[in-house]
Amino acid sequence: MKLIFWGGTGQAKVMRPVIEEQGDELIAVFDDTKNLTPPFRDVPLYHGSEFDSWYQAQRGVAAGFCVTIGNPHGNVRLRIAERLESQGLAPISAIHRSAIIARSAQIGDGAQIHAGAIVEVHAVLGRQCIVNTKASVDHECVLEDGAEIGPGATLTGLVHVGRGAWIAAGATVLPRLRIGADAIVGAGAVVTRDVPPSTVVVGVPAKAIRST
Ligand SMILES: CC(C)(COP(=O)(O)OP(=O)(O)OC[C@H]1O[C@@H](n2cnc3c(N)ncnc32)[C@H](O)[C@@H]1OP(=O)(O)O)[C@@H](O)C(=O)NCCC(=O)NCCS
Repeated sequence: MKLIFWGGTGQAKVMRPVIEEQGDELIAVFDDTKNLTPPFRDVPLYHGSEFDSWYQAQRGVAAGFCVTIGNPHGNVRLRIAERLESQGLAPISAIHRSAIIARSAQIGDGAQIHAGAIVEVHAVLGRQCIVNTKASVDHECVLEDGAEIGPGATLTGLVHVGRGAWIAAGATVLPRLRIGADAIVGAGAVVTRDVPPSTVVVGVPAKAIRST
């Protein structure tokens, strides 16, 4: 399938080989940042404001999209996905061949699952979730739409991650805890209690430092 990326920085660079290995082809990249250095020499980069005219001119060649925008912008990812879907593009999941995903896990549309990630039995991922390099999402965890699990982070069993929340690199969340919507768990934190929505926690044990 020919597809576009929305987001032209690191996440796009990491996801391109993943979608190509799946047999998809990247034909354009869009980003709302002005004067962004193009991430690829062989694929055109457009400003987001050029999308409507580009989309009309390409006459149905592009069939799918991947919103390659990482932390802490889960809600932006969801908003852009809704817009592109309403215009007829299909959300594509990009799943690295080395990721291990239990057969009983449910993976929502537009998932980006990186190298070495593990998604265990009966885990449920909503739409537009990212599970980054070597992150572990253990049994029966729930990731609401737009949640992101950072590189090497560990969600132990039955953890619930709210909409748009971000668990940063190397953090650990103990069993059955709830991370509120739009919360951020800082790199390396160990979460021992529920985290309220829109709260940033850091440290071991994790403590709140500010709101998002
Ligand atoms: C949690 C985080 C988002 C907070 O960012 P911030 O709000 O800009 O925080 P600041 O850098 O202003 O730091 C505020 C305080 O918290 C401390 N702090 C920040 N992040 C921390 C962390 N991960 N662990 C422990 N303490 C941390 C700072 O040392 C500072 O303490 P001080 O006030 O005593 O000096 C950020 O520090 C973080 O952990 N980012 C994760 C990066 C990552 O994993 N990226 C993955 C890319 S795929």
